[in-house]
Amino acid sequence: MKLKSRVQQQGFLLALRFLAVVLWSFPGARALDNGLAITPTMGWLHWERFMCNLDCQEEPDSCISEKLFMQMAELMESDGWKDVGYEYLCIDDCWMAPERDSNGRLQADPKRFPSGIRGLADYVHSKGLKLGIYADVGNKTCAGFPGSFGHYDIDAKTFADWGVDLLKFDGCYCDSVEHLEKGYKRMSLALNRTGRSIVYSCEWPLYMWPFRKPNYTEIRQYCNHWRNFEDVYDSWQSVKSILAWTSSNQKRIVDVAGPGGWNDPDMLVIGNFGLSWDQQVTQMALWAIMAAPLLMSNDLRHISPQAKALLQDKDVIAINQDPLGKQGYRLRKEDNIEVWERPLSDLAWAVAMVNLQEIGGPRFHTISIASLGQGLACIPDCMITQLLPEKKKLGFYQWTSDLKTKINPTGTVLLRLAAT
Ligand code: GLA
Repeated sequence: MKLKSRVQQQGFLLALRFLAVVLWSFPGARALDNGLAITPTMGWLHWERFMCNLDCQEEPDSCISEKLFMQMAELMESDGWKDVGYEYLCIDDCWMAPERDSNGRLQADPKRFPSGIRGLADYVHSKGLKLGIYADVGNKTCAGFPGSFGHYDIDAKTFADWGVDLLKFDGCYCDSVEHLEKGYKRMSLALNRTGRSIVYSCEWPLYMWPFRKPNYTEIRQYCNHWRNFEDVYDSWQSVKSILAWTSSNQKRIVDVAGPGGWNDPDMLVIGNFGLSWDQQVTQMALWAIMAAPLLMSNDLRHISPQAKALLQDKDVIAINQDPLGKQGYRLRKEDNIEVWERPLSDLAWAVAMVNLQEIGGPRFHTISIASLGQGLACIPDCMITQLLPEKKKLGFYQWTSDLKTKINPTGTVLLRLAAT
Protein backbone atom coordinates (compact mmCIF):
# COMPACT_ATOMS: atom_id res chain seq x y z
CA MET A 1 0.00 0.00 0.00
CA LYS A 2 2.77 2.33 1.02
CA LEU A 3 4.75 1.41 -2.09
CA LYS A 4 1.72 1.94 -4.28
CA SER A 5 1.06 5.41 -2.91
CA ARG A 6 4.71 6.35 -3.41
CA VAL A 7 4.53 5.17 -7.03
CA GLN A 8 1.30 7.12 -7.44
CA GLN A 9 2.93 10.18 -5.93
CA GLN A 10 5.93 9.93 -8.28
CA GLY A 11 3.56 9.51 -11.24
CA PHE A 12 1.64 12.59 -10.15
CA LEU A 13 4.85 14.62 -9.86
CA LEU A 14 6.01 13.50 -13.30
CA ALA A 15 2.65 14.49 -14.75
CA LEU A 16 2.99 17.92 -13.10
CA ARG A 17 6.44 18.35 -14.61
CA PHE A 18 5.14 17.37 -18.03
CA LEU A 19 2.34 19.91 -17.68
CA ALA A 20 4.87 22.58 -16.70
CA VAL A 21 6.94 21.89 -19.83
CA VAL A 22 3.86 22.12 -22.03
CA LEU A 23 2.64 25.33 -20.36
CA TRP A 24 5.98 27.14 -20.35
CA SER A 25 6.71 26.20 -23.96
CA PHE A 26 3.49 27.80 -25.16
CA PRO A 27 4.46 30.71 -27.42
CA GLY A 28 3.54 34.28 -26.44
CA ALA A 29 2.36 37.03 -28.78
CA ARG A 30 3.73 37.09 -32.32
CA ALA A 31 7.13 38.78 -32.61
CA LEU A 32 8.62 41.04 -35.26
CA ASP A 33 9.53 38.66 -38.03
CA ASN A 34 13.18 39.62 -38.57
CA GLY A 35 14.79 36.66 -36.82
CA LEU A 36 16.75 38.95 -34.48
CA ALA A 37 16.99 39.34 -30.69
CA ILE A 38 16.04 35.71 -30.09
CA THR A 39 17.64 36.34 -26.70
CA PRO A 40 17.93 39.85 -25.21
CA THR A 41 20.43 42.08 -27.03
CA MET A 42 23.80 42.50 -25.31
CA GLY A 43 26.22 45.34 -25.89
CA TRP A 44 27.24 48.86 -25.01
CA LEU A 45 25.40 52.16 -25.51
CA HIS A 46 26.99 55.56 -24.95
CA TRP A 47 24.16 57.66 -23.52
CA GLU A 48 24.12 57.37 -19.72
CA ARG A 49 27.90 57.68 -19.34
CA PHE A 50 28.84 60.07 -22.17
CA MET A 51 25.58 61.87 -22.98
CA CYS A 52 25.87 64.69 -25.56
CA ASN A 53 29.43 65.79 -25.06
CA LEU A 54 30.38 67.63 -28.27
CA ASP A 55 33.52 69.31 -26.97
CA CYS A 56 36.35 67.29 -28.49
CA GLN A 57 38.71 70.24 -28.01
CA GLU A 58 38.47 70.28 -24.23
CA GLU A 59 37.47 66.66 -23.62
CA PRO A 60 38.92 64.55 -26.43
CA ASP A 61 38.52 61.32 -24.46
CA SER A 62 34.86 61.62 -23.63
CA CYS A 63 33.28 63.55 -26.49
CA ILE A 64 30.97 61.71 -28.90
CA SER A 65 33.42 60.84 -31.65
CA GLU A 66 34.52 57.83 -33.69
CA LYS A 67 37.62 57.63 -31.48
CA LEU A 68 35.46 56.85 -28.45
CA PHE A 69 33.64 54.04 -30.28
CA MET A 70 36.84 52.63 -31.76
CA GLN A 71 38.42 52.48 -28.32
CA MET A 72 35.35 50.75 -26.90
CA ALA A 73 35.31 48.30 -29.82
CA GLU A 74 38.95 47.41 -29.19
CA LEU A 75 38.28 46.78 -25.52
CA MET A 76 35.10 44.82 -26.17
CA GLU A 77 37.22 42.46 -28.20
CA SER A 78 40.37 42.36 -26.06
CA ASP A 79 38.91 42.41 -22.54
CA GLY A 80 36.55 39.47 -22.77
CA TRP A 81 33.29 41.41 -23.29
CA LYS A 82 32.62 39.95 -26.73
CA ASP A 83 33.41 36.45 -25.48
CA VAL A 84 30.64 36.56 -22.88
CA GLY A 85 28.10 37.95 -25.36
CA TYR A 86 28.33 41.78 -25.43
CA GLU A 87 28.15 42.20 -29.18
CA TYR A 88 26.41 45.43 -30.17
CA LEU A 89 28.41 48.66 -29.85
CA CYS A 90 25.77 51.37 -30.00
CA ILE A 91 25.89 55.07 -30.74
CA ASP A 92 23.16 57.17 -29.08
CA ASP A 93 22.12 60.78 -29.76
CA CYS A 94 24.51 63.54 -30.94
CA TRP A 95 26.42 61.75 -33.69
CA MET A 96 24.83 63.75 -36.51
CA ALA A 97 25.79 66.91 -38.32
CA PRO A 98 23.18 69.64 -37.71
CA GLU A 99 21.80 69.33 -41.28
CA ARG A 100 21.04 66.56 -43.78
CA ASP A 101 23.26 66.43 -46.90
CA SER A 102 22.24 67.75 -50.33
CA ASN A 103 20.55 64.40 -51.11
CA GLY A 104 18.44 64.60 -47.97
CA ARG A 105 20.46 61.96 -46.15
CA LEU A 106 21.55 62.06 -42.55
CA GLN A 107 25.26 62.57 -42.12
CA ALA A 108 27.65 62.18 -39.23
CA ASP A 109 29.40 65.25 -37.88
CA PRO A 110 32.48 65.36 -40.13
CA LYS A 111 34.86 66.65 -37.45
CA ARG A 112 33.94 64.09 -34.83
CA PHE A 113 33.40 61.18 -37.25
CA PRO A 114 35.97 61.76 -40.03
CA SER A 115 35.64 58.15 -41.31
CA GLY A 116 31.85 58.49 -41.50
CA ILE A 117 29.55 55.86 -40.05
CA ARG A 118 30.44 53.46 -42.83
CA GLY A 119 34.12 53.65 -41.87
CA LEU A 120 33.25 53.14 -38.21
CA ALA A 121 30.98 50.20 -39.07
CA ASP A 122 33.82 48.55 -41.02
CA TYR A 123 36.12 48.96 -38.04
CA VAL A 124 33.55 47.60 -35.60
CA HIS A 125 32.82 44.64 -37.87
CA SER A 126 36.56 43.91 -38.17
CA LYS A 127 36.50 43.35 -34.40
CA GLY A 128 33.72 40.80 -34.79
CA LEU A 129 31.17 43.21 -33.30
CA LYS A 130 28.01 44.88 -34.57
CA LEU A 131 27.22 48.60 -34.78
CA GLY A 132 24.12 50.32 -33.42
CA ILE A 133 22.94 53.82 -34.32
CA TYR A 134 20.32 56.28 -33.07
CA ALA A 135 17.58 58.33 -34.76
CA ASP A 136 14.19 59.78 -33.85
CA VAL A 137 10.64 59.22 -35.09
CA GLY A 138 9.78 62.95 -34.81
CA ASN A 139 11.06 66.21 -36.24
CA LYS A 140 14.21 66.33 -34.10
CA THR A 141 16.18 63.99 -31.86
CA CYS A 142 15.87 64.66 -28.13
CA ALA A 143 19.13 66.65 -28.28
CA GLY A 144 17.91 68.67 -31.27
CA PHE A 145 19.57 66.96 -34.26
CA PRO A 146 17.63 66.15 -37.46
CA GLY A 147 14.65 63.83 -36.90
CA SER A 148 13.46 61.13 -39.27
CA PHE A 149 9.84 62.29 -39.66
CA GLY A 150 9.09 62.25 -43.39
CA HIS A 151 12.39 60.46 -44.10
CA TYR A 152 11.84 56.95 -42.79
CA ASP A 153 12.68 55.15 -46.04
CA ILE A 154 15.75 57.13 -46.91
CA ASP A 155 17.09 56.90 -43.34
CA ALA A 156 16.53 53.14 -43.16
CA LYS A 157 18.30 52.77 -46.49
CA THR A 158 21.18 55.00 -45.40
CA PHE A 159 21.69 52.95 -42.22
CA ALA A 160 21.60 49.70 -44.22
CA ASP A 161 24.09 51.10 -46.78
CA TRP A 162 26.44 52.04 -43.98
CA GLY A 163 26.30 48.51 -42.54
CA VAL A 164 24.44 49.39 -39.35
CA ASP A 165 23.10 46.43 -37.32
CA LEU A 166 20.78 48.05 -34.76
CA LEU A 167 18.65 51.19 -34.66
CA LYS A 168 17.56 52.85 -31.43
CA PHE A 169 14.57 54.94 -32.47
CA ASP A 170 13.66 57.68 -29.99
CA GLY A 171 10.31 59.44 -29.71
CA CYS A 172 11.03 63.15 -29.07
CA TYR A 173 9.44 66.01 -31.03
CA CYS A 174 6.57 64.01 -32.47
CA ASP A 175 3.55 66.24 -32.98
CA SER A 176 0.80 63.66 -32.34
CA VAL A 177 0.19 60.18 -30.97
CA GLU A 178 -0.95 59.14 -34.43
CA HIS A 179 2.37 60.21 -35.94
CA LEU A 180 4.20 58.45 -33.13
CA GLU A 181 2.44 55.14 -33.77
CA LYS A 182 2.58 55.37 -37.53
CA GLY A 183 6.21 56.47 -37.44
CA TYR A 184 7.36 53.54 -35.34
CA LYS A 185 5.50 51.14 -37.63
CA ARG A 186 6.74 52.75 -40.84
CA MET A 187 10.36 52.67 -39.71
CA SER A 188 9.99 48.99 -38.82
CA LEU A 189 8.71 48.21 -42.30
CA ALA A 190 11.34 50.45 -43.92
CA LEU A 191 14.11 48.63 -42.06
CA ASN A 192 12.65 45.32 -43.18
CA ARG A 193 12.55 46.44 -46.80
CA THR A 194 16.29 47.17 -46.80
CA GLY A 195 16.92 43.43 -46.55
CA ARG A 196 19.64 44.02 -43.94
CA SER A 197 19.27 42.46 -40.49
CA ILE A 198 18.81 45.46 -38.20
CA VAL A 199 17.67 45.08 -34.60
CA TYR A 200 14.89 47.63 -33.98
CA SER A 201 14.94 49.19 -30.52
CA CYS A 202 11.89 51.36 -29.80
CA GLU A 203 10.75 53.85 -27.16
CA TRP A 204 7.18 53.77 -28.45
CA PRO A 205 5.42 52.78 -25.19
CA LEU A 206 7.36 55.32 -23.11
CA TYR A 207 6.11 58.18 -25.31
CA MET A 208 2.65 56.61 -25.59
CA TRP A 209 1.86 56.27 -21.88
CA PRO A 210 0.97 59.95 -21.28
CA PHE A 211 -1.78 59.68 -23.93
CA ARG A 212 -3.11 56.14 -23.77
CA LYS A 213 -2.21 52.62 -22.73
CA PRO A 214 0.19 51.09 -25.23
CA ASN A 215 -0.93 48.00 -27.11
CA TYR A 216 2.00 45.73 -26.32
CA THR A 217 0.85 42.90 -28.57
CA GLU A 218 1.04 45.28 -31.49
CA ILE A 219 4.35 46.84 -30.39
CA ARG A 220 5.90 43.38 -30.27
CA GLN A 221 4.99 42.86 -33.91
CA TYR A 222 7.12 45.85 -34.92
CA CYS A 223 9.97 46.17 -32.38
CA ASN A 224 12.70 43.88 -31.01
CA HIS A 225 12.70 45.75 -27.71
CA TRP A 226 10.87 48.70 -26.30
CA ARG A 227 11.47 51.19 -23.49
CA ASN A 228 8.54 51.60 -21.11
CA PHE A 229 9.83 53.97 -18.50
CA GLU A 230 12.09 56.96 -17.85
CA ASP A 231 15.81 57.11 -18.63
CA VAL A 232 18.10 55.30 -16.23
CA TYR A 233 20.44 57.51 -14.20
CA ASP A 234 23.54 56.55 -12.31
CA SER A 235 21.71 56.31 -8.98
CA TRP A 236 19.94 53.85 -6.70
CA GLN A 237 16.86 56.06 -6.80
CA SER A 238 16.69 55.51 -10.56
CA VAL A 239 17.26 51.73 -10.50
CA LYS A 240 14.73 51.41 -7.68
CA SER A 241 12.10 53.39 -9.59
CA ILE A 242 12.58 51.21 -12.70
CA LEU A 243 12.04 48.07 -10.62
CA ALA A 244 8.99 49.60 -8.93
CA TRP A 245 7.46 50.56 -12.28
CA THR A 246 8.15 47.11 -13.70
CA SER A 247 6.59 45.21 -10.82
CA SER A 248 3.54 47.42 -10.65
CA ASN A 249 2.93 46.96 -14.40
CA GLN A 250 3.97 43.32 -14.63
CA LYS A 251 0.51 42.00 -15.48
CA ARG A 252 0.57 44.13 -18.60
CA ILE A 253 4.16 43.64 -19.78
CA VAL A 254 5.63 40.30 -18.66
CA ASP A 255 3.71 37.86 -20.84
CA VAL A 256 4.31 39.80 -24.02
CA ALA A 257 8.10 39.40 -23.76
CA GLY A 258 9.77 36.45 -25.45
CA PRO A 259 12.22 35.50 -28.19
CA GLY A 260 12.31 38.35 -30.71
CA GLY A 261 10.73 41.02 -28.46
CA TRP A 262 11.70 42.28 -25.00
CA ASN A 263 10.80 44.93 -22.44
CA ASP A 264 13.75 47.30 -22.09
CA PRO A 265 14.30 48.78 -18.61
CA ASP A 266 17.24 50.79 -20.06
CA MET A 267 21.02 50.60 -19.68
CA LEU A 268 23.19 48.90 -17.09
CA VAL A 269 25.04 51.60 -15.15
CA ILE A 270 27.32 49.13 -13.35
CA GLY A 271 30.93 50.33 -13.27
CA ASN A 272 30.10 54.03 -12.92
CA PHE A 273 29.85 56.29 -9.86
CA GLY A 274 26.38 56.22 -8.37
CA LEU A 275 25.65 52.65 -7.26
CA SER A 276 27.17 50.90 -4.26
CA TRP A 277 28.45 47.36 -4.75
CA ASP A 278 25.22 45.84 -3.46
CA GLN A 279 23.16 48.09 -5.73
CA GLN A 280 25.23 47.01 -8.74
CA VAL A 281 24.55 43.39 -7.77
CA THR A 282 20.85 44.23 -7.61
CA GLN A 283 20.87 45.79 -11.07
CA MET A 284 22.68 42.81 -12.64
CA ALA A 285 20.47 40.23 -10.90
CA LEU A 286 17.20 41.94 -11.68
CA TRP A 287 18.09 42.74 -15.30
CA ALA A 288 18.71 38.98 -15.63
CA ILE A 289 15.36 38.15 -14.03
CA MET A 290 13.58 40.71 -16.26
CA ALA A 291 15.09 39.23 -19.48
CA ALA A 292 16.28 42.77 -20.21
CA PRO A 293 18.61 43.81 -23.01
CA LEU A 294 22.05 44.10 -21.36
CA LEU A 295 23.36 47.37 -22.77
CA MET A 296 26.13 48.71 -20.57
CA SER A 297 26.76 52.43 -20.41
CA ASN A 298 30.11 52.81 -18.72
CA ASP A 299 33.73 53.48 -19.59
CA LEU A 300 35.41 50.21 -20.47
CA ARG A 301 38.80 52.00 -20.31
CA HIS A 302 38.29 52.68 -16.61
CA ILE A 303 36.29 49.99 -14.86
CA SER A 304 37.02 48.22 -11.59
CA PRO A 305 37.85 44.50 -11.71
CA GLN A 306 34.86 43.89 -9.41
CA ALA A 307 32.35 45.63 -11.73
CA LYS A 308 33.89 43.89 -14.73
CA ALA A 309 33.57 40.48 -13.09
CA LEU A 310 29.92 41.20 -12.23
CA LEU A 311 29.08 42.29 -15.79
CA GLN A 312 30.94 39.28 -17.19
CA ASP A 313 29.43 36.74 -14.79
CA LYS A 314 28.60 33.83 -17.10
CA ASP A 315 26.04 32.23 -14.78
CA VAL A 316 24.05 35.44 -14.44
CA ILE A 317 24.31 36.15 -18.17
CA ALA A 318 23.03 32.60 -18.80
CA ILE A 319 19.90 33.45 -16.80
CA ASN A 320 19.41 36.65 -18.79
CA GLN A 321 19.93 34.77 -22.06
CA ASP A 322 17.93 31.67 -21.12
CA PRO A 323 16.51 30.15 -24.32
CA LEU A 324 13.03 29.67 -22.89
CA GLY A 325 12.78 33.47 -23.08
CA LYS A 326 10.21 33.99 -20.31
CA GLN A 327 10.49 37.26 -18.41
CA GLY A 328 10.48 36.98 -14.61
CA TYR A 329 8.19 38.86 -12.25
CA ARG A 330 7.86 39.94 -8.64
CA LEU A 331 6.31 37.13 -6.65
CA ARG A 332 5.76 39.04 -3.42
CA LYS A 333 6.88 41.87 -1.22
CA GLU A 334 6.93 41.41 2.51
CA ASP A 335 8.44 43.66 5.10
CA ASN A 336 10.59 45.48 2.50
CA ILE A 337 11.96 42.28 1.00
CA GLU A 338 10.96 41.47 -2.55
CA VAL A 339 11.06 37.99 -4.02
CA TRP A 340 11.28 37.78 -7.83
CA GLU A 341 11.35 34.59 -9.89
CA ARG A 342 11.88 33.58 -13.50
CA PRO A 343 11.17 30.22 -15.15
CA LEU A 344 14.15 28.86 -17.08
CA SER A 345 14.66 26.08 -19.58
CA ASP A 346 15.11 22.50 -18.30
CA LEU A 347 12.56 23.20 -15.54
CA ALA A 348 15.04 25.39 -13.66
CA TRP A 349 14.14 28.64 -11.91
CA ALA A 350 15.97 31.83 -11.02
CA VAL A 351 14.96 33.49 -7.77
CA ALA A 352 16.09 36.92 -6.57
CA MET A 353 15.54 38.35 -3.11
CA VAL A 354 16.02 42.10 -2.82
CA ASN A 355 16.36 43.88 0.53
CA LEU A 356 14.83 47.31 0.01
CA GLN A 357 15.28 48.43 3.61
CA GLU A 358 17.74 51.29 3.64
CA ILE A 359 18.37 51.31 7.36
CA GLY A 360 20.19 48.71 9.43
CA GLY A 361 22.51 45.91 8.39
CA PRO A 362 22.10 42.64 6.49
CA ARG A 363 18.73 40.96 7.08
CA PHE A 364 17.87 37.29 7.25
CA HIS A 365 15.01 36.09 5.14
CA THR A 366 13.54 32.61 5.06
CA ILE A 367 11.55 31.36 2.09
CA SER A 368 9.61 28.17 1.85
CA ILE A 369 10.72 26.35 -1.28
CA ALA A 370 7.15 25.22 -1.94
CA SER A 371 6.11 28.84 -2.49
CA LEU A 372 8.37 29.19 -5.54
CA GLY A 373 7.43 28.62 -9.16
CA GLN A 374 3.74 28.06 -8.37
CA GLY A 375 4.87 25.11 -6.29
CA LEU A 376 6.74 23.56 -9.23
CA ALA A 377 10.24 24.98 -8.78
CA CYS A 378 11.59 22.13 -6.72
CA ILE A 379 9.64 18.88 -7.12
CA PRO A 380 10.40 16.58 -5.38
CA ASP A 381 13.81 18.12 -4.73
CA CYS A 382 16.34 20.35 -6.46
CA MET A 383 19.89 21.59 -6.43
CA ILE A 384 20.25 25.23 -5.37
CA THR A 385 23.20 27.44 -6.28
CA GLN A 386 23.63 30.98 -5.07
CA LEU A 387 24.99 33.06 -7.98
CA LEU A 388 25.14 36.52 -6.41
CA PRO A 389 26.56 38.30 -4.45
CA GLU A 390 29.04 35.42 -4.81
CA LYS A 391 28.77 31.91 -6.21
CA LYS A 392 28.12 29.20 -3.62
CA LYS A 393 26.65 25.72 -3.99
CA LEU A 394 23.90 25.46 -1.38
CA GLY A 395 23.13 21.78 -2.10
CA PHE A 396 19.97 19.67 -2.32
CA TYR A 397 16.67 20.93 -1.03
CA GLN A 398 13.33 19.19 -0.67
CA TRP A 399 10.06 20.62 -1.85
CA THR A 400 9.05 20.94 1.78
CA SER A 401 12.20 22.69 3.02
CA ASP A 402 12.89 26.29 3.94
CA LEU A 403 15.86 28.30 2.75
CA LYS A 404 17.43 30.98 4.89
CA THR A 405 19.34 33.81 3.19
CA LYS A 406 21.12 36.94 4.34
CA ILE A 407 20.67 40.06 2.20
CA ASN A 408 22.55 43.35 2.48
CA PRO A 409 20.62 46.64 2.44
CA THR A 410 19.73 47.48 -1.19
CA GLY A 411 21.45 44.24 -2.20
CA THR A 412 20.15 41.04 -3.77
CA VAL A 413 20.71 37.32 -3.36
CA LEU A 414 20.30 35.55 -6.70
CA LEU A 415 19.67 31.79 -6.73
CA ARG A 416 19.34 29.15 -9.41
CA LEU A 417 17.18 26.13 -8.67
CA ALA A 418 17.89 23.17 -10.93
CA ALA A 419 15.68 20.12 -11.26
CA THR A 420 17.40 16.90 -10.22
C1 GLA B 1 15.93 60.15 -24.61
C2 GLA B 1 16.16 58.65 -24.48
C3 GLA B 1 17.54 58.39 -23.93
C4 GLA B 1 18.59 59.01 -24.83
C5 GLA B 1 18.31 60.51 -25.01
C6 GLA B 1 19.20 61.11 -26.06
O1 GLA B 1 15.89 60.78 -23.36
O2 GLA B 1 15.18 58.07 -23.67
O3 GLA B 1 17.76 57.00 -23.80
O4 GLA B 1 18.58 58.35 -26.07
O5 GLA B 1 16.96 60.74 -25.39
O6 GLA B 1 18.93 62.47 -26.30
